[in-house]
Amino acid sequence: MSLQDRLGQRPAAAAGNGLQDRLAAAGDAALASVSAIPVTSVVSNARRNTRRAYDPLANVRRRAHEALLELLGPQLYDTVDDDDELARRVREALPEVLSKEETTLTAGDRTLAFRQIIDEILGHGPIEPMLRDPDVTEIMVNAWDRIYVERFGHIHEADAAFIDENHLRRVIDKIVSRVGRRVDESSPMVDARLPDGSRINAVVPPIALDGAALTIRKFSIEPYTVDDLVRFGTLSPVVADLLRACVEGRLDVLVTGGTGTGKTTLLNVISTFLPAEERIITIEDSAELRLAQDHVLRMEARPPNIEGRGEVTIRDLVRNALRMRPDRIVVGEVRDGAALDMLQAMNTGHDGSLTTVHANSPRDSIARLETMVLMAGMDLPIRAIREQIASAVDLIVHLSRLGDGTRRVTQISEITGMEGDIVTMQDLFTFDYRAGLDQYGRHQGELLSTGLRPRFLDTLADHGVVIAAEQFGRIGRSS
Ligand SMILES: Nc1ncnc2c1ncn2[C@@H]1O[C@H](COP(=O)(O)OP(=O)(O)OP(=O)(O)O)[C@@H](O)[C@H]1O
Ligand SMILES: [Mg+2]
Repeated sequence: MSLQDRLGQRPAAAAGNGLQDRLAAAGDAALASVSAIPVTSVVSNARRNTRRAYDPLANVRRRAHEALLELLGPQLYDTVDDDDELARRVREALPEVLSKEETTLTAGDRTLAFRQIIDEILGHGPIEPMLRDPDVTEIMVNAWDRIYVERFGHIHEADAAFIDENHLRRVIDKIVSRVGRRVDESSPMVDARLPDGSRINAVVPPIALDGAALTIRKFSIEPYTVDDLVRFGTLSPVVADLLRACVEGRLDVLVTGGTGTGKTTLLNVISTFLPAEERIITIEDSAELRLAQDHVLRMEARPPNIEGRGEVTIRDLVRNALRMRPDRIVVGEVRDGAALDMLQAMNTGHDGSLTTVHANSPRDSIARLETMVLMAGMDLPIRAIREQIASAVDLIVHLSRLGDGTRRVTQISEITGMEGDIVTMQDLFTFDYRAGLDQYGRHQGELLSTGLRPRFLDTLADHGVVIAAEQFGRIGRSS
């Protein structure tokens, strides 16, 4: 269904007079666009409508938006390619539309309404201010009137809503069509990267049962540096120095953690420790890493096209990278059979490669790697897989998102070898949860050394990187 069909399908929203009519029409509009909507959604729509009635400018915006649609007709959304022209037309028409408003608007309200309508039409509707706000790191649209944002590690419900389901769908269409993708009933989920690097995921009915949902992981304009992470308490300066030594000393490092714990961010930070004279190849599903070194080759996997052809997987890219004479390979995340190629790369002269694995603990990441290697379909015996893991991976740095909203390194473990069929590892640092919370509910603990002497000190020494053993007792103390 084309955009215009969908717009045309909007029921009598413009014809309604009273608030009730409008709200009912908005409910219908949401229903019209969602096939086979479950009963629970109807109930929640009623509740949502009541909540939205508190926004004093909502009705003004809705009327102005509709009047503009009528005035500018199909041009309003069909000229997405020419934003400047569209902006000019909307800016020209809007004052006239607003002047027809019966509600008396103060000058302040008028300016605000003007801004919001421009955002709705030219930008991304109610999420536009969130996209602009550098403190917002994640935007989660669970439904057209249910928007959550993450700020400073905490998730809040935002006081904003799309006009209706159609409005949300138009914004999603706009975002994905700009990057050459589409989302509709036949391909109801899409992953894409915006031109600014932000990562988006959209799911729409029929797989999204309560209407479309959109998740945006914002890309910070300036990537976090090691100093930022120290400032946030993710790392202490001493741990940062240790990680630098491990990267310079060519250890193969796995960054682990759950969803959104900051794995990619930490991978980016530790990648900045890679020596400038080395040839680095980065491989990602969606390019998020930003390395400052000169000698960097970046590759991005590609999903299949609509006919199901042309897919290039992380696995293909890792294999290809081996033919490009890399000194180091940095893989954004291994999540399937690519793990086998990555382990082989680490075991065959590409020491010092870095990657992330989604896992609940360092120990869990070993099990995850095993499963992923099996996905490569090579039918390897489990012991052989474990041997590959034990000899490939040197260090595991685990991140957690704590209850206080901070993201911290909570464990650093070293893989020491095999005992029988088991991969052995020792914890070098663990987070001190026992230190409790301060008056603001923040964890006071830090990463403490377990006192064990890392075995990798010898490997580091082979690469000319020396860390005094007595450092270890002190690691974690921020002074
Ligand atoms: N150490 C940190 N302190 C505060 N915020 C952080 C930190 N690291 C990352 N973030 C923020 O947290 C969000 C998630 O970060 P990131 O993409 O690195 O996580 P991830 O673990 O790779 O997520 P995913 O599992 O989705 O790949 C981003 O918005 C990022 O800006
Ligand atoms: Mg990531």
